[in-house]
Amino acid sequence: MSVNAPKKIDSVKVVIGDKTVECPAFEGIENEKSFDIGKLRDQTGYVTFDNGYANTSPVISDITYLDGDNGVLRYRGYPIEQLAEKASFVEVAYLLIHGELPKKAELDKFVKGIEENQTVDSNFYKIFDAFPKNTHPMAMLTAATVALSGQYPNDNEITNKASVEKTIYRLLGQFPALCAAAYRHSRGESRISAKPGLDYCSNFMSLMYAKDGSYSVPKEIVSALNLLLILHADHEQNCSTSTVRLVGSSNANLYASIAAGITALWGPLHGGANQAVMEMLEEIQKSGGDIQATVAKAKDKASGFKLMGFGHRVYKNFDPRAKIIKKACDQVLNALGIQNPLLGLAQQLEAAALTDAYFVEKKLYPNVDFYSGIIYSALNIPVEMFTPMFALGRMPGWIAQWKEMIDGGTTKIGRPRQIYTGYAKRDYVSIDAR
Ligand code: ACO
Repeated sequence: MSVNAPKKIDSVKVVIGDKTVECPAFEGIENEKSFDIGKLRDQTGYVTFDNGYANTSPVISDITYLDGDNGVLRYRGYPIEQLAEKASFVEVAYLLIHGELPKKAELDKFVKGIEENQTVDSNFYKIFDAFPKNTHPMAMLTAATVALSGQYPNDNEITNKASVEKTIYRLLGQFPALCAAAYRHSRGESRISAKPGLDYCSNFMSLMYAKDGSYSVPKEIVSALNLLLILHADHEQNCSTSTVRLVGSSNANLYASIAAGITALWGPLHGGANQAVMEMLEEIQKSGGDIQATVAKAKDKASGFKLMGFGHRVYKNFDPRAKIIKKACDQVLNALGIQNPLLGLAQQLEAAALTDAYFVEKKLYPNVDFYSGIIYSALNIPVEMFTPMFALGRMPGWIAQWKEMIDGGTTKIGRPRQIYTGYAKRDYVSIDAR
């Protein structure tokens, strides 16, 4: 049940030829208006065309609010700035999944649930051994995540609350270990087990880097990672989240739905942008640091090149996450005593783009991933692990969105229409006559 049911407003009349269709209309709490075109095709024969779902909302949701014109992002009503400053990632995960900030006892129970389910079965890890060492970790993580549904076949019933709760604990508990296993596999290093008693971020860093069973995680690293995970934890109906919902709408289990989200995230136009930004900055550095040439190439459509980490479907003023990350970037590098020349290049590139008419007119600003890679590098996380880090942060958001859909019980299977432009009917021609 929604915190605030959508408010009915005057219906919208769609006039097509001599037919007028009354479309029921409603409004969310931030005055976002919408009308339901579900009956349009039956009554007029028309479907709507909306490239990239840019103006379509198949979802009524209580989870995340985003105002792209004013750079606002809130999880369950709480501004991202406050959560980034004050909360822990696990608290935010609870908030997204359960709708409220946890009380002490609730948080303790949640942490315990994660800890009790964080050990990956040693046999299960064999799945990684099948992959060549140079496999991208996102491929391994997709495979491992969907394989968890085979590891726990008795907990795949999507309307069984106890099973879903267990699955949530396993996903939150085991995904850090799976990320670390993918990383260690690529280096030919043996896997290590999660340690109870460590906070979420320390546990992850220790799964990645512990040698001889020990790794002391500096507090600056823990708080930087905590911040990055919170900033990535949800972002309403983006490509990967919509994928999780679309796959889940067929009643696929939670592991399968999340695995689909991981693949959607991988692309460089979405979560893969953090890796692409770093590769772009390295390329600029290698070729002598010509910022203006990079900006010119990004403006030249024929080049097929875009300024990675710039632009956003929804934010047309600034991305509030990018603002927080940019500030954190300076702080983290200072605290760890790291000088990364790529930070200087990124700042010059940002300044050049923000004063260039092309970027100004098209309202293209740095997004969350423009600076995140520089922090990840400072945390010693290699470039190919940047997108898995995004997936680690996004996990509670994907879970929350899937759970909202399943608990709501009213979502129809996702099944868009199309405009067919292939051949009209033609008769089969036998092979000798072709
Ligand atoms: N560099 C150069 N030009 C750009 C860029 C960019 N980064 N982003 C958009 N444009 C141009 C487009 O070519 C288009 O130009 P046109 O109107 O002349 O055709 C115009 O700006 C509008 O862009 P669209 O691609 O239509 O915007 P859309 O909302 O479809 O795409 C996206 C948004 C995918 C984020 C796009 O800006 C992009 O590709 N950015 C680079 C990749 C990136 O950083 N992705 C991460 C996004 S954040 C996230 O998912 C976590």
